[in-house]
Amino acid sequence: MSKPDLSDSEYTSRQSAFLGQLPEDSLVLIPTNPVVFRSNDTAFPFRANSYMLYLCGWSDPEAVLMAHRERGKWVTTLFVQPRDTKAEIWEGQRIGVEGTVSGWPVDQAHSLEDIADSVTSHLDACTSVYCIPGLNPELDELIGRADGAELADPTPILDDMRVLKSKEEIRLMQESADIASASQIAAMRATFPGIGEWQIQSIIEAHFTTCKSRWSYQSIVGGGENATILHYNSNDNEISDGELVLVDAGCEVSGYASDITRTWPVSGKFSDQQREIYELVLKAQLAGIEACQAGSVWLSMHRATSAVLAQGLIDLGVLDCSVEEAIGDDMEFNGPYRNFFMHGTGHFLGLDVHDVGGGRQGDKDEGPILQPGMVVTVEPGLYFGSWRTDIEIPDRYAGIGVRIEDNVLITDNGPVVLTSNCPKTIDEIEALVGNNG
Ligand code: GLY
Ligand code: MN
Ligand code: MN
Repeated sequence: MSKPDLSDSEYTSRQSAFLGQLPEDSLVLIPTNPVVFRSNDTAFPFRANSYMLYLCGWSDPEAVLMAHRERGKWVTTLFVQPRDTKAEIWEGQRIGVEGTVSGWPVDQAHSLEDIADSVTSHLDACTSVYCIPGLNPELDELIGRADGAELADPTPILDDMRVLKSKEEIRLMQESADIASASQIAAMRATFPGIGEWQIQSIIEAHFTTCKSRWSYQSIVGGGENATILHYNSNDNEISDGELVLVDAGCEVSGYASDITRTWPVSGKFSDQQREIYELVLKAQLAGIEACQAGSVWLSMHRATSAVLAQGLIDLGVLDCSVEEAIGDDMEFNGPYRNFFMHGTGHFLGLDVHDVGGGRQGDKDEGPILQPGMVVTVEPGLYFGSWRTDIEIPDRYAGIGVRIEDNVLITDNGPVVLTSNCPKTIDEIEALVGNNG
């Protein structure tokens, strides 16, 4: 797998900033993700663990990053798969120990065959072991044998670092956003009544592949009622004339995710009912973006989108109550508007599509304070699935599902929409759908 497009100094300064926060008699062990099998001996495409990617950019399976103290200094060691002609004939050439030492931002590299001896000897000399358990059974077993050393979780420290993006990371996230934006435009252009959801998926993902990227989560292409299923991804239905399609798709560049949702009519023209709901969601989304201000609490975004959606649902005659009643508790958001907007307004975005750093609705407090360098999604929606039996769905809007999602960088000068190349006004969308010219 190729090396992420980040400078070595970016990695070494991350390592120093992380290790500098640990007690000096610690040992750090960061394993990557396991290979997961899909059927018999066929694996899912491998995706490295995000903490491993963050600390050293290593993208191949089975590796473990270790850091220990030696003569008053931190030393980083990457344990990697050793060169092995027989395995390489099938799986491709390995970087190996020597290639790792010369090409990766670590002090040392060793074969994974040596990990037991090495870890065991360092365990004796430390009082805390910072490790991510549950990913590498051999490592878990080794640590389980540690006598006296206390196990500690490195992720809170790393998460506080990962949530603030550097200039280099923002460059990659902008690239990822641009590819995902262009893929949505290509799909809008290619849409026609009767198109299969899978065909739209293939246009989106072909664009990712053309740009040497790949999806950051399974693409959601929901036509008609399927747009009302939040994580729908079977993508196997035809979309009839008159229906909307909701496309929630993002890609990865050097591990950094984008995550865009657009909704458009397959005919190229919104009906009056679709337009009413679309305009309301767009108004809420713009209010959500405006709330992405440095210094604001996380919940500000959700409060902003909720206020617009609740008022809009009242104005459209869907709800018959006050805005306060529609929203319910100011922390719980448990009023009746929740029947139609049942998810959060967004999440952090980075190496994981639902990135680290906190910030979820349902948090006990108002969530983290937004700071320059954070990247969030803003993705309100309204869903009127006529299949719902738990609530009454207004006839006028039955079967409509709309979500609009952008990726937003928090700065000192206000929100910067990384996905601003992806059209979202009704006029822009109507001009694009079915327009191959
Ligand atoms: N694609 C999943 C999400 O928007 O959170
Ligand atoms: Mn999202
Ligand atoms: Mn999404």
